[in-house]
Amino acid sequence: MEIVICDSYEQMSKAAAAVVAQTLNRKPDAVLGLATGSTPLGLYRELIRMHREEGLDFSYVTTFNLDEYVGLPSDHPQSYHYFMRENLFKHINIPPQNIHIPAGTTDNYRAFCDWYERRIKECGKIDLQVLGIGADGHIAFNEPGSSLGSRTRIKTLAKQTIEDNARFFERPEDVPVYAITMGVGTILEARRIILLANGENKAEAVAAAIEGPVTSMCTASALQLHQDVTFFLDRAAASRLKMIEYYEWIQAKRPGAPPSA
Ligand code: PGA
Repeated sequence: MEIVICDSYEQMSKAAAAVVAQTLNRKPDAVLGLATGSTPLGLYRELIRMHREEGLDFSYVTTFNLDEYVGLPSDHPQSYHYFMRENLFKHINIPPQNIHIPAGTTDNYRAFCDWYERRIKECGKIDLQVLGIGADGHIAFNEPGSSLGSRTRIKTLAKQTIEDNARFFERPEDVPVYAITMGVGTILEARRIILLANGENKAEAVAAAIEGPVTSMCTASALQLHQDVTFFLDRAAASRLKMIEYYEWIQAKRPGAPPSA
């Protein structure tokens, strides 16, 4: 795992955007796994800027989003379909048919989840997965207690997640209780993973994910089992890491490191 500690949210977002751009420069038809939430907004803003000002091309890119609320139609302002359209897709040149987001409304959720898993494989698997982290250590909507081998499925959200998300809805009782989410096992099959976290309220979850035991009680800790993960953190989110000085030492030494390091 690589831990990159950034001085600000802006710097974190730009560092993550540089990884996305580098992926697309190497492989213009890359498959990206994308996240919603407040964390990746700066990353998406930077990708939009790179598209407009530097010609970053999304015309061969395929995307898969991590999750969606069950019961929200795609035009609902709190749906993740709406979020992705407004905050990224309508500003870049990705073909609509290349975009995949779990369906919030479908007659057969199980069949949909199976199809989503198959579709990821058909498209050649995810080259780069972008993740946020919940205050309870979740990745996507894999709440504490989710199997670390889990696949795309319907999940009941934890009370804390519902409370955290209530700020986006008019009334707390409007927050959906169920979501479709990629599983931890699905996420771990991505070739490369970047996780972004900022703010003091993520510090404990970040420390548990990086330095705690691998446990379903903090599903982000499963990333310790992946061979190519980078955490991009601001100082507040990194503040509970015990080995913070070591991570900064590694970053400082990186320019002179042997090529494979
Ligand atoms: P946030 O959500 O980016 O809005 O903090 C992250 C998450 O819950 O995964």
